Amino acid sequence: MKYIEIKAPAKINIGLSVLSKRADGYHNLSTLFYPITDLYDILTFQPADQFNFSCSDKSLPLDSGNLVVKAKELLEKKMDKRISARIELKKKIPSQAGLGGGSSDAAATLISLNEMFRLGLKHEDLLGIALELGSDVPFFLRALPALGSSRGEILELVDLTITEPVLIVNPGINISTKEAFRKIIPADVKADYSPLIKEGRLDFNFMRRNIRNDFEKYVFELFPEIGEIKDMLNHAGALFSLMSGSGSTVYGIFEDVESAKKAEMEFPKNYFCFLSTPHH
Ligand code: C5P
Repeated sequence: MKYIEIKAPAKINIGLSVLSKRADGYHNLSTLFYPITDLYDILTFQPADQFNFSCSDKSLPLDSGNLVVKAKELLEKKMDKRISARIELKKKIPSQAGLGGGSSDAAATLISLNEMFRLGLKHEDLLGIALELGSDVPFFLRALPALGSSRGEILELVDLTITEPVLIVNPGINISTKEAFRKIIPADVKADYSPLIKEGRLDFNFMRRNIRNDFEKYVFELFPEIGEIKDMLNHAGALFSLMSGSGSTVYGIFEDVESAKKAEMEFPKNYFCFLSTPHH
């Protein structure tokens, strides 16, 4: 295969409960992952004489500090084989934003290199490698709506399509997931996310009453600006609004595109705003 181009989508977390701290240092959590298919990074792969990686976002590392390179290196180690590819990454998803951009890029890299270099890895093999790269990477191998538990790698696909527009707002604040987890005191309450889906659609009444993101309390305290985004989305009439992952992105689900667009106009011009309408 000479060339692969792949879209690596973003995700949002519809609810995120941190349940307990584990002996391995990670936390058990429970969440609903939902892919945002119209917000994506683009990766291209080509066989080459030498490995070469370039990225449109000059603030990101080009060595193994970048999950794309780390994914390539981990594959080389597992297969005991050199992978000489030219990889280009065009970033559109904000980084360290709770949208899973880096994790999605890593999953896209595993899928593409497996195919291009005929590594013969099955989905189950890729799942294991994905988890070594990060807790969110397994979800992105399929990028289908799923309930996530354990570190986020135990995935149960759910039948869900959000037909309403989702306004994604990021103020440009970088949040380290590691630091965010360090601050959190696990609530130890079992969250049941299944009632939020009724016949393949979201039950917004249930969500407003029951769905939380345990990181909000800590993150809003540290960065009041992020809490204000949520207030603004709610005042603008969002059916539901929540921070995604460990932040700093907050999203609002709106009844129609007009009200979502109106809300979007209220945010400062230097914010990253994206109106997701994949079903329109
Ligand atoms: O898995 P990932 O590398 O993305 O996680 C970054 C950091 O976030 C981990 O090193 C860990 O400290 C924390 N984390 C956690 N529990 C999870 C996921 C991440 O404590 N389920």
